[in-house]
Order: sequence, then C-alpha cells, then structure tokens
Amino acid sequence: DKGNYRHFMAKEIHEQPEVVGRTLAHYLDLAEGVVRLPFELTFDPRTLSRVTISACGTAYYAGLVARYWLERFAGLSVEIDIASEFRYREAPLPENGLTILVSQSGETADTLAALRYAREQGQHILSIVNVETSTIARESDTVAQTLAGPEIGVASTKAFTCQLAVFACLALALGRARGVLGKERERELVAELVAAPGQMAQALAHEAQIEPVARDVARASSVLYLGRGPAFPLALEGALKLKELSYIHAEGYAAGELKHGPIALIDFAMPVIVLAPPDASLEKTVSNLQEVAARGGHLILIGSPCARDAAAAELAGFIEMPESVAGPFAVIVYAVPAQLLAYHVATFMGKDVDQPRNLAKSVTVE
Ligand code: F6R
Repeated sequence: DKGNYRHFMAKEIHEQPEVVGRTLAHYLDLAEGVVRLPFELTFDPRTLSRVTISACGTAYYAGLVARYWLERFAGLSVEIDIASEFRYREAPLPENGLTILVSQSGETADTLAALRYAREQGQHILSIVNVETSTIARESDTVAQTLAGPEIGVASTKAFTCQLAVFACLALALGRARGVLGKERERELVAELVAAPGQMAQALAHEAQIEPVARDVARASSVLYLGRGPAFPLALEGALKLKELSYIHAEGYAAGELKHGPIALIDFAMPVIVLAPPDASLEKTVSNLQEVAARGGHLILIGSPCARDAAAAELAGFIEMPESVAGPFAVIVYAVPAQLLAYHVATFMGKDVDQPRNLAKSVTVE
C-alpha cells in the first residue's frame, strides 16, 4: 500500500524519520542516553583483531560509511570489500576477527558466499539485515536487525539509513567495550544520533527546494558527485541512486581525488553535486568546490548556509540543510536530499522509479 504517495519509493523515503527512530530506539537506552545492544556479543571486543565488512551495492556503501565510525569511535582496524570480489579473493582473515555482512534482503548470493567464506576462516559472524528470517540472518552468529519494515521500491532508501543507524550504535558500543570511548563522549554522540530522525523530517519538509535542482540535473547526460569523509560513500550512493532511477550516468568521487583525473571532465554542462556537511573536512571540501568553480563548472551544493557562504562561488543549485546537522552522523541526514534528488530527477523524466529497467529487488544469483 502506497498510502498517499505516488510511489513506494516516495513513501519509503518519507518513512525514514520513523524507521530510523525505531531502529535507534532498539539499540539505545534513550532514558540513559547511552548505547544498549539488544544482543550479547559472541566475542570479546577488547581482543578483537580486525573488522571485515562485505556487502553489495547500497549496503556496501553503508559499510564504507561505517568504517569511519568503527575506526574513530572504537579504534578498530577495518577492511571492507564488495562481496563479489571478497568471496573470491582468498583474503587471509586474522584470528579473533569479526566479519560483518550487510544486506536488506538477507538473500544476496554474493553476500551469502562472503559470509560462508568468513565462516570457513573462523570469523565471528554478525549480519545487519532487514529480513530477520533470511538465509544470511540464519547463518550468522549475531543478527542486528534494521527495523525499516518491508522495502518495496527496488532502490534501497530506508534500509540504507537504518543500516547506518545500526552501524553507528555498534561503533559506539564497541568503543565503550574497548575502553576507547569515554562515558561523556558516548553521551554526546548518542545525543547527536537521537537528533537525526527529527533532522531527517526537517530535510523532508524542504522537499520543494529540490524540484528546480532536479529539473536542471534531468538535462544532463553525466553527473559527478563529490564528498569527503563519511560523505564520500554517500557521494557513491547518490550517484548510484541517480543512475539506477534516471539512467543518467553518474559517478561518485572522493573530493580530494578531483585533481587526479576527474577534473578533466569539468565543463558548464556536467552537474557537479557537492555534499558538504559541516564537519572537520568542510574546509577541504569547499576548496575542492572552488576548483570546480574556477573552471566554469556547473555546481550544485548540498550543504548548510555556512558552507554556501564559505564557498563564495556561483552555484547552479543549492539544496539547503540546517546548520545544526553537523558532525560524524550528519551523513545519515544528508542521505535524504541525495535520495530525493534522484527520485525527482527520475519522476520528472517520466521513469518508473519503483521498478527501474533491468533491476531486481533481490539478487539471488551471482
Ligand atoms: C541499490 C540497491 C542495490 C542493493 C544490493 C544489495 O538501490 O538496492 O544496490 O543495495 O543489491 O541488496 P541487499 O541489501 O538486499 O543485499
């Protein structure tokens, strides 16, 4: 049932404040303002040697975001690879390592094969899945469920932000257990996480500002998406959403890689979408944005008024985000405009967003 929405995808994008809130409530003690995992870990976090993450598509991008959090908040070394590569690499996995599989459906063939490989290598297996009864869930030692509810739209939206919510809680829980994260810092970070659903609702309330930007992007034949830090994987995700829904070629790049090749593509016609949440890397992202501006690039900024002012560049489009959406978890909220942009570009072009050509919701063959 689509409710009052034209598409399942629109409904699922708009459900995010609720389902991310519900997922957070499952992994946090809201009264105490701390993390409380709803399961016992099958390993001792203090002696964990390494975390390995594997997944496909959007779920893989959630893992890429999580790497920043697991490293910073839990002091863990993290390796991550797409499941179709990981399963055949014969990577040696260290003793006392944790492998995390991420999957909405829990049935993705390559991700399941990655799980079985990690199992053979004696890893602790934790999966972040949306479908609790799935094969990946059944074969895991620990199941961390995303409480996104059924996701019908082929393009993953609410499952992605719920995966991020679970990863954030997991990183904080491991940080605490490993003695890396102090009580005060944990409370601060939990407070930031708890603010995310409300901030997502704010971002959704400003959907109208995305339509003119979408009409502009719909004219393009190619789009570049840039971000730094946790916003880099979000750039990859934004580009994936755009190509799968609108069939416009789009590439996500780490903003710092611009000079190492893609800057050659810059011209007045190719939109360059810059994700610039107010975090420690904002200044660097702004200077990359200025490099695009100096070459007459077609700039679209997703950021706060502060980022716009710092950019001091001519923008073809600006999607304004509240200044208060800042810090390491801002990326969860910034996923909303990236999803809405892809949705509006595709619907403006008359594409079937719930059932894009050639795509299946669950990829059970390799
Ligand atoms: C993109 C998308 C796919 C899936 C991928 C993994 O919008 O939906 O990239 O994320 O096929 O699927 P799951 O999460 O079911 O393993």
